Amino acid sequence: MLYLIASVAPMMDWTDHHYRTLARLISKHAWLYTEMIAVDTIVHQKDNLDRFLAFSPEQHPIVLQIGGSNLKHIASATELANPYGYDEINFNCGCPSPKVAGHGCFGVRLMLDPEFVGEAMSVISSNTNSPVTVKCRIGVDDHDSYDELCDFIYKVSSLSPTNHFIIHSRKALLNGISPADNRKIPPLKYEYYFALLRDFPDLKFTINGGINSIDQVNAALHEGAHGVMVGRAAYNNPWSLLGHVDTVVYGVPSSGITRRQVLEKYQAYGDSVLWRDGNKPNVRDVVKPLLGLFHSEPGNGLWKRKADSAFRNCTKLESFFKETLDAIPDFILDSQISERLSGSENPFAGMQDILPPPYDLKEQEVMYV
Ligand SMILES: Cc1cc2nc3c(=O)[nH]c(=O)nc-3n(C[C@H](O)[C@H](O)[C@H](O)COP(=O)(O)O)c2cc1C
Repeated sequence: MLYLIASVAPMMDWTDHHYRTLARLISKHAWLYTEMIAVDTIVHQKDNLDRFLAFSPEQHPIVLQIGGSNLKHIASATELANPYGYDEINFNCGCPSPKVAGHGCFGVRLMLDPEFVGEAMSVISSNTNSPVTVKCRIGVDDHDSYDELCDFIYKVSSLSPTNHFIIHSRKALLNGISPADNRKIPPLKYEYYFALLRDFPDLKFTINGGINSIDQVNAALHEGAHGVMVGRAAYNNPWSLLGHVDTVVYGVPSSGITRRQVLEKYQAYGDSVLWRDGNKPNVRDVVKPLLGLFHSEPGNGLWKRKADSAFRNCTKLESFFKETLDAIPDFILDSQISERLSGSENPFAGMQDILPPPYDLKEQEVMYV
């Protein structure tokens, strides 16, 4: 089975085509997930699909994440997406936003209905040539025991060809807290993730949630994770996170690229897409993913202040960079990704000592075999 090792998480409004272009300039190998696209949108916009589904070929390996609860739409959307040639189709069973999990009755709410997810995954699989995966949480509200998580995994993997799950290792609360709070308030329980590796040796699992540095990515892989997915850190600090992925995770020599070279290439991309649809995308839209590129570096604050005022008068990236980049010292712009890793803490140390008791498959086997 083909499975990924390091990936950038699907993030609405963040992992759009612009961000993925930047990410791919920094890492050639990280798997890139799209933002979640609702199947209803794909079906209703079937005459306008490129706007939602097209991507440049350099973005491979790329995964389309879809969300929805209408089986007919799930089938049609997958079929419509198939010609685009995504490397994997991922089904969202983790989003807690009230629009999605409340009113929409999909996202993380689907963890409460594993039979439906099994059916949906079979439908997705029969309408695509790509492998199919599920991204989920470790539970919802009071349905947060390790056994309930295992029941979900067992049922979905028995009822469909799904053999790879991405586990955001905290539960979701459907009590109306914001999606942002749902990414910080419920505690991370990595021990559930590592117990899944023990209890489902025939399946693949990617760990996600709270992984903030390349050292931590490496630590998770050392502890046996099949894949590591990083969200916010890959967006907020793309240079130091993605800059190390190819060498540290995939073992290939560094490309030696500098941030100045990244920006030159990004400028060519940006200027080719600006104003494509009338007044969109504008300079602010295209520059947005770059705003983390100098995270914690000298000149970063000044650069962002200059960017704010340049958004008002620049109509091209070329003039935007002319007006702002003198805030960043040349040695930052011209240095390659540093060899030294940060030596941050290993959040997975000692996990094997606190794993929940093994999942008892017996009852499930009677039902499903
Ligand atoms: C702005 C934002 C948007 C997100 N949108 C999605 C989404 O569309 N689909 C999804 O499965 N998860 C979404 N997530 C959750 C991330 O994929 C990821 O699971 C979560 O941020 C935890 O990983 P991290 O701690 O590395 O950020 C989003 C997260 C953020 C910050």
